[in-house]
Amino acid sequence: MALIELTNVSYLYRETTALANLSFHVNSGEFLAVIGPNGSGKSTLAQHLNGLLLPTEGEVLVDGIATSTADSDQIWEIRRQVGMVFQNPDNQLVATTVEEDVAFGPENLGLPSALIRERVDWALEQVGMSHLSRAEPHKLSGGQKQRVAIAGVLAMKPKCIVLDEPTAMLDPQGRLEVWETLRGLQQQGITIILVTHFMEEAARAQRILVLSQGSLALCGSPQEVFGHGQKLSQLGLELPQIAELGHELRKSGILVPSHIFTTEALVTWLCK
Ligand SMILES: Nc1ncnc2c1ncn2[C@@H]1O[C@H](COP(=O)(O)OP(=O)(O)O)[C@@H](O)[C@H]1O
Ligand SMILES: [Mg+2]
Repeated sequence: MALIELTNVSYLYRETTALANLSFHVNSGEFLAVIGPNGSGKSTLAQHLNGLLLPTEGEVLVDGIATSTADSDQIWEIRRQVGMVFQNPDNQLVATTVEEDVAFGPENLGLPSALIRERVDWALEQVGMSHLSRAEPHKLSGGQKQRVAIAGVLAMKPKCIVLDEPTAMLDPQGRLEVWETLRGLQQQGITIILVTHFMEEAARAQRILVLSQGSLALCGSPQEVFGHGQKLSQLGLELPQIAELGHELRKSGILVPSHIFTTEALVTWLCK
């Protein structure tokens, strides 16, 4: 079932068209990656998925409710169901301890304190940060900070999390931590929409949506999308490094299949 559905969505910032007649849907429980060159509309799109921005034309339905005609109660419900995590972890953490930060959302919902406690403990466990619940957020690594930001969203019990380049400012270790956290959440049925410029991350998603100038350039499985190497390169996007490696290996007579785009898939193939 479609959790989010966009129909002919356009969005204009004054004279700039950021989204142009975009239609697609996100299924409940899926892991969708969104890629595209700088300025292609990824962040604008992300903000349409929970009513932070409303379409200039067209319609965004979240769980069947149109964001542009929703009343304020419905908008709050949409924002609870579809949580957002942004690029800069330092802008998202506001409290003096990790657990206070994660409690912020449920406190705003006016939940009783025992339930808030339960939610905070649960959310920190999901992101592997229980042991640092009393830590000061500014002392954490980038990857830890983003996991706390994810826990803050989780504490609202969302159906979906939209992340706008959450790993762009992280080192490889931090990126891996965030990635594994997201994969764990998806396995529990939470829908994940990840905007990223790391092709290896996109290659591990179930489906990839490629934006170009606010329109859909490509959409499909990683296999389908990365099969369009020429189109991607015209857009200034690269194939995942493993695809390049596979290409070089094939030239040397090691016949790695062309649909291998991730380290895991390559290792599995080499060891089989
Ligand atoms: N607040 C804004 N005011 C005016 N134009 C904007 C604003 N934010 C983004 N844009 C423009 O909208 C287009 C899409 O931007 P954005 O959604 O940020 O793309 P991406 O996230 O893919 O880099 C770009 O042309 C950008 O310059
Ligand atoms: Mg952006």
